[in-house]
Amino acid sequence: MVNWPSHYFLCIINSMTKTPSPLDPEAKPDDRVDHALRPQKLNDLIGQDQVKDNLSILISAAKKRGEALDHVLFYGPPGLGKTTLAHVIGNEMGVNVKVTAGPVIERAGDLAAILTNLRAGDILFIDEVHRLGRAVEEVLYPAMEDYALDIVIGKGPSARSIRLKLPRFTVVGATTRLALVTAPLRARFGAVYRLDYYDIEAMKKIVTRAAGMLKVEADAKGIEEMARRARGTPRVALRLLRRVRDFAQVRADGVINQKVAIEALDLLQVDPLGLDDVDRRVLKTIIEKYNGGPVGLNTIAASISEEQDTIMDVVEPYLLQLGFLDRTPQGRVATKSAYEHLGYTYTEQGQARLL
Ligand SMILES: Nc1ncnc2c1ncn2[C@@H]1O[C@H](COP(=O)(O)OP(=O)(O)OP(=O)(O)O)[C@@H](O)[C@H]1O
Ligand SMILES: [Mg+2]
Repeated sequence: MVNWPSHYFLCIINSMTKTPSPLDPEAKPDDRVDHALRPQKLNDLIGQDQVKDNLSILISAAKKRGEALDHVLFYGPPGLGKTTLAHVIGNEMGVNVKVTAGPVIERAGDLAAILTNLRAGDILFIDEVHRLGRAVEEVLYPAMEDYALDIVIGKGPSARSIRLKLPRFTVVGATTRLALVTAPLRARFGAVYRLDYYDIEAMKKIVTRAAGMLKVEADAKGIEEMARRARGTPRVALRLLRRVRDFAQVRADGVINQKVAIEALDLLQVDPLGLDDVDRRVLKTIIEKYNGGPVGLNTIAASISEEQDTIMDVVEPYLLQLGFLDRTPQGRVATKSAYEHLGYTYTEQGQARLL
């Protein structure tokens, strides 16, 4: 009998009972409407200029040579546009995109079946590529490098290996955890791009575009308020826009101005910097219970009954970007700006620890 720690059950119960935060960049069923809002071409994409420039060269060059695109890997926090970019590449190249994900391909045979169904030039989009199994990766290596599939026929001494030729195809991988992608797999991607949080100007354009497409009336100040509180993440921006639209329809005359946006976002407990309840609980735990840190990630996760993965993928990158959190070898430390933002007095003792 496995002896599960009690916080494990707490996490499960918690994740079953709580309503999803509007700032959680993980995809939710409610986000299906986002598909309609997905940019289709490179020119529709807002922000990420460096990635866009690089991609457009990669695509034009491949098209000129009439070849399949080199394998591409996107990494970065959830909701920044990795899946969107994979489809954009497909549209720009004029090829099919087959979609799958690391945890879905359980056995090597599953991948072999997918690979043998690809046509020349096709894109195989593998989401969460860091979660591919070892045996599956072994099949992927020669497929990506030599466009070949090694199959073993028979068992024991009579077993023989045959090599099937595959059409030239392109793997587009996406991951929120580059560090967990094995070195041999990473080495097989010809281009690796990091997606970063969007700046406020790009976020304003994204909210404006989505408001237009959803036929939501919003003025410039209202849009800016939503853009500022969306933690640099398009998926969060789209979700906030939908929630604020609901609020405007019920409590106001349907038009989103600054006052309506502020009221709605305050009600959603999204603060002016885009921190939500979970972010604040993480910081408060470090500050109140552990005197500012350092404290280990597992301890933080257990004390606020959140999953470690959520804290690592969603909460931490944004807090690190804001400079509210430091990662030290001893654990996580809350910075002076975090104390100030949450209204705590910063002590010298804390400062000494940071040095
Ligand atoms: N550059 C952009 N311009 C406009 N909208 C965007 C942009 N990038 C993403 N979006 C919107 O944000 C939503 C989320 O993007 P997407 O699903 O591609 O994120 P992701 O990085 O794949 O997230 P995950 O890691 O959770 O899979 C999409 O529905 C899309 O409409
Ligand atoms: Mg995705």
